[in-house]
Amino acid sequence: MNEGISNMKPADLRGILNYVPRFLGQTFVISLDGAILENENLPNILLDIAVLRSLQINVVIAHGIGKQISELSDERGIEISNADGSGVTDPATLDLAIRASSRASHQILEALTQTGLKCAITNSVRSTPVGVLKGVDFQRTGKADRVDAEFLNHLIAQNIIPIIQPIGFDRNGHTLRINSDLLAIEAAFALKATKTIFVTELEGLRIDGELKRQLSIDDLEAKLDDAESSSFDASALSKATHAHLGVKGGIARIHILDGNVHDGLVREVFSNEGVGTLVYGNEYQQIRQAKRTDVPLIFHLTSGSAEKEELATRTIESIENEIQNFHVYEIDGNLIGCVLISRYDEEPETAEINALVVHSLHQRQGAGSKLVNFACHMAQKEGCNRILALSTQSFSFFESICRFRETDSDSLPASRRENYVQQNRQSKILVKDL
Ligand SMILES: CC(C)(COP(=O)(O)OP(=O)(O)OC[C@H]1O[C@@H](n2cnc3c(N)ncnc32)[C@H](O)[C@@H]1OP(=O)(O)O)[C@@H](O)C(=O)NCCC(=O)NCCS
Repeated sequence: MNEGISNMKPADLRGILNYVPRFLGQTFVISLDGAILENENLPNILLDIAVLRSLQINVVIAHGIGKQISELSDERGIEISNADGSGVTDPATLDLAIRASSRASHQILEALTQTGLKCAITNSVRSTPVGVLKGVDFQRTGKADRVDAEFLNHLIAQNIIPIIQPIGFDRNGHTLRINSDLLAIEAAFALKATKTIFVTELEGLRIDGELKRQLSIDDLEAKLDDAESSSFDASALSKATHAHLGVKGGIARIHILDGNVHDGLVREVFSNEGVGTLVYGNEYQQIRQAKRTDVPLIFHLTSGSAEKEELATRTIESIENEIQNFHVYEIDGNLIGCVLISRYDEEPETAEINALVVHSLHQRQGAGSKLVNFACHMAQKEGCNRILALSTQSFSFFESICRFRETDSDSLPASRRENYVQQNRQSKILVKDL
């Protein structure tokens, strides 16, 4: 690293500006496998974490203890019921897990302190016992019941990196062992993290022998459904199932990173150079075609905006007639937005965005631009080369956020122009080439 710095010219620092805004203020949960904590590359990984912090990315570290617990078991001649926290944890294994965890957290504290970063081991996860599954009592194995995001964010605000151990406490203060992959995902959900990065000893995920650098959630799901995914070994299977769980639950990107690679973390985050496997969600997975049963909710959404003259008035009947051209945006099964994609017989290459609305409680969280991008994507797929939007009050949303440009009524298809003149709403006309 010192060699790297001495080779740098001050002008190279300008290049860093390209990276600064990229993930500013976002939260990444970085999960370090137990084996990685004993890897000689650990100081480099933690240095990469220091780089992320310096770019104002919020970092929370979770860690595993699989390797440490197996070592302790060998050292002490105590048999363990399970190493990775996914099986039964008997009292003897729990005892070793507590010791292994404190050893592992200490290794992180020590190495982070060397990089000049402040950090703290936290008690931020309330746990509940897994209980009895398929007739097997999992004893002291727990799952995350509640992650105290407020506490973790408070530490982050103080410039302290929180460390989460794979050990939790239930409401009565009993200690439970938690699988660290699950813990990282639960923490990412609670913190609304945009990434979870599993730092492992795996090269990445292999499918049918081929190392995948990028994997869509749909492809991963198909593989996991396929014959109990016999092609993944135990460690890869845990990463694959938890990456699936995480992306399905709304974490945009999950990386399974090869912790042996020098500078791997920074390279993967900023260049997607391929230092592991990136599992990514379908960015439109919250959007689906509308059904007849959605008509009352769409009416409710659009009529609210029509009252404020943001949208043209639509009757229940007109929504019913066009329901197949409506798409809706759902969060946790609740419909929070919609868009209507209209087409014109006389101009098949032109589409129009209509009835775009996001419920006021959910605005400014990206749903509106996602609906617009989705409409553009669908129109393009159907062979259109431009898409129109007519707006009275949201034209600057279309211009500045969605990159439409203003045009005049001559660009409207003939039937639309007629209707535009009749309605006399004086909407601005915007267009985007696809
Ligand atoms: C327009 C609308 C769909 C945007 O939805 P959204 O989910 O808030 O949009 P996003 O979160 O993707 O984008 C938010 C950005 O758009 C900007 N924006 C939203 N409405 C805007 C408007 N009317 N004028 C200018 N900018 C607007 C916000 O300021 C925000 O900018 P920021 O990220 O710099 O803070 C939503 O405001 C809405 O439903 N409005 C009422 C109905 C309407 O006017 N529909 C359009 C008619 S065609």
